[in-house]
Amino acid sequence: MPGSDGGPRGPRPRPARLPARPAPPAADDVIAVIAPQHEHVKTLLEAVRQQTGDRRAAAFHTLRLTLALHETAEQQAIHPLALRQLGAHDRAANDRIAEEQTAGQTIRALELVKVDSDQFDATFGHLAASVTAHAAAEEADEWPALRQITDPPVINSMVEQMQAVSRLAADPAAPGIQATFTEMQEWARARLPSPPAP
Ligand SMILES: [Fe+2]
Ligand SMILES: [Fe+2]
Repeated sequence: MPGSDGGPRGPRPRPARLPARPAPPAADDVIAVIAPQHEHVKTLLEAVRQQTGDRRAAAFHTLRLTLALHETAEQQAIHPLALRQLGAHDRAANDRIAEEQTAGQTIRALELVKVDSDQFDATFGHLAASVTAHAAAEEADEWPALRQITDPPVINSMVEQMQAVSRLAADPAAPGIQATFTEMQEWARARLPSPPAP
């Protein structure tokens, strides 16, 4: 059957196109994975605050597991590389590691008290404030240093490390509500990808 122009109908020849070449990875790809995790942690902190009883215990479990994974991944693949960019004279990366260790101690103290006790409320208030300030400090002090990293294998390694956080947090075999924060950290260290080569 002829077309409107009288010619035969059929697919028009398309101009030859070169296959699209993926853009090289950029440090912003790492930030794009970490930023939603920081927002997720803030949501989890609020969930613990708003719940009571078993629901608060469940929300606290999700927060502990998420922090164990997120902070372990940062200690393996983010802080050492930020430190390398910033130089040994800059305290930013070391301060962030110290804050993560302090938060871990606070979480271990919280595991020893009932979730509906006044002591939990008071100590959790400190934890929430310090974890929020810690994330803001990473964003302000470390992320500018990360943005200077241009080596694609290093960037890919950082992205893989931080993407594994969300994947492992959803793993049905992840440590349950009875597990301690220390056990969650050990589980995270055993399953997160290898950190970027120094
Ligand atoms: Fe952190
Ligand atoms: Fe972080």
